[in-house]
Amino acid sequence: MRAERRAVGEIESRRANGPDWDRYADDYQATHGEFLGDVGFVWGPEGLTESEARVLGDLAGRDVLEVGSGAGQCSRWVRAAGGRSYGLDLSHRQLQHSQRIDHATGVTVPSMVGTATALPFRDASFDVVFSSFGALQFVADIELAVAETARVLRRGGRFAFSITHPTRWMFPDDPDEAGLVASQSYWDRTPYVEVDEASGQVSYVEHHRTLGDWVALLAGAGFTITRLLEPEWPDHHDRVWGGWSGVRGRVTPGTAIFAADLP
Ligand SMILES: C[S@@+](CC[C@H](N)C(=O)[O-])C[C@H]1O[C@@H](n2cnc3c(N)ncnc32)[C@H](O)[C@@H]1O
Repeated sequence: MRAERRAVGEIESRRANGPDWDRYADDYQATHGEFLGDVGFVWGPEGLTESEARVLGDLAGRDVLEVGSGAGQCSRWVRAAGGRSYGLDLSHRQLQHSQRIDHATGVTVPSMVGTATALPFRDASFDVVFSSFGALQFVADIELAVAETARVLRRGGRFAFSITHPTRWMFPDDPDEAGLVASQSYWDRTPYVEVDEASGQVSYVEHHRTLGDWVALLAGAGFTITRLLEPEWPDHHDRVWGGWSGVRGRVTPGTAIFAADLP
């Protein structure tokens, strides 16, 4: 595998990321499933939960869509809180894990394979659309993904999502001190790409937008931004998740959580 920064479009991103998440799903759930909780809602590696943050608002009786739902842990928590949540994910294998946990817990999240850029729902179907480190940073055509979200939301609806904090893109993806030394431009939006050296195929893609880009994207789709949370690394939290660790998390933010409402 070779990592590089280069331009990648929507089709190539999706063609790479679906199979990548299929390959990675078993390992991902084995490694992070306990931290996520089968009926649990964490917004990121800092462990901030929705019950602490209350980003989504009152969920009882609300129609809720999770985009990039993975094994559905967050949506299951929403169901337990009285919401009618549904999952959508690019990876079939992630959704098989979701079904496994549905059966184990008795809390079922109806879910489907799909992509954030073509939501298979009628206009104005949901009160809340959210994503916890789900699809958004994997999508090239982010304008379309945000427009699709606005389309399926009802007036007064809420869009909330967590992503890798945009400032993290300046640093190497290293949980130790080396990961605190800025080495690349914050303003370089060239996607991060992994290429399978044997086949020459793109096997994984992530896309970067600056904080200003996110403000423009949300405002441009008619949203009013109501919150931007940058969770601090909690004392006594020593879990390392990829490039997220206490060493870095006590100095610089690793996660950004946006909430935005449709007037
Ligand atoms: C880091 S996981 C987050 C899932 C869940 N919230 C969790 O914390 O485990 C990212 C998920 O986004 C999904 N994903 C990636 N690109 C997507 C796309 N274009 N549309 C929908 N889901 C996508 C992946 O398949 C994966 O399940």
